[in-house]
Amino acid sequence: MNIDFGKYPLPKRLRHHTASNLYMPASELKLVSGYYPPLYDKVDWRLFFINGKKPDSLDIGCGKGAFLLEYSSQHPEMNILGIELRKLPVEWLDNIIRSEKIENCSVMWYSASNGLPFIETSSEKKIFYLFPDPWHKRKHRKRRTFGKIFLDELHRVLSDEGELLIATDVKEVDEYHKKTLERHGGFTFDVIGDDKDWELPITNKEKFCRDNNIEIFRLKCRKK
Ligand SMILES: C[S@@+](CC[C@H](N)C(=O)[O-])C[C@H]1O[C@@H](n2cnc3c(N)ncnc32)[C@H](O)[C@@H]1O
Repeated sequence: MNIDFGKYPLPKRLRHHTASNLYMPASELKLVSGYYPPLYDKVDWRLFFINGKKPDSLDIGCGKGAFLLEYSSQHPEMNILGIELRKLPVEWLDNIIRSEKIENCSVMWYSASNGLPFIETSSEKKIFYLFPDPWHKRKHRKRRTFGKIFLDELHRVLSDEGELLIATDVKEVDEYHKKTLERHGGFTFDVIGDDKDWELPITNKEKFCRDNNIEIFRLKCRKK
């Protein structure tokens, strides 16, 4: 990837966290405000990818998109869709993707807590869920996207040979991911300690962790 990021200053208002209700499914909210991301049942992929085809891989919670951009440039044969609930990074990334004329990468303003009804069954080769959940505390668990309904959706859209890749820098969240996967029962998973078993581009958050010697926890999951 060869992008001059100096041309794309980050918006000043791009804060790390955002209103907590964006993490909740719209169906659980009393009031769906104007800054809640749109809901989709069906999507015309011509609006997202030049070839008009469906995405082959998803980066859920893509944030500022370093991983999304690099992974897309490594895989020109695939359409990669980033999904992000914060509008500002979506607009910022969308401008980069369009200005740099990147044809196989797109970003959608959407909260994955609402499921993925617009993604075809068994259509995804890889689903990335990298450092997404800011809700570390036990009392905030109900705000976490990663639960049975979300896993049912990931299981439905992942192809039989596909992989779900999960990373976090919070040990308690890693334990929660493993417990939730075990309870769900639809996936096998391997704990990835060694970088050579991961071999994926570095994400913005991962770079921060590495620069600050923060431990990271990774899982590679497959459908049973
Ligand atoms: C800590 S950032 C990590 C971003 C990127 N994956 C990385 O590793 O650098 C987490 C991102 O996930 C997004 N996110 C969390 N839950 C989400 C959801 N349910 N749907 C869409 N995006 C979500 C947040 O808005 C945030 O931008």
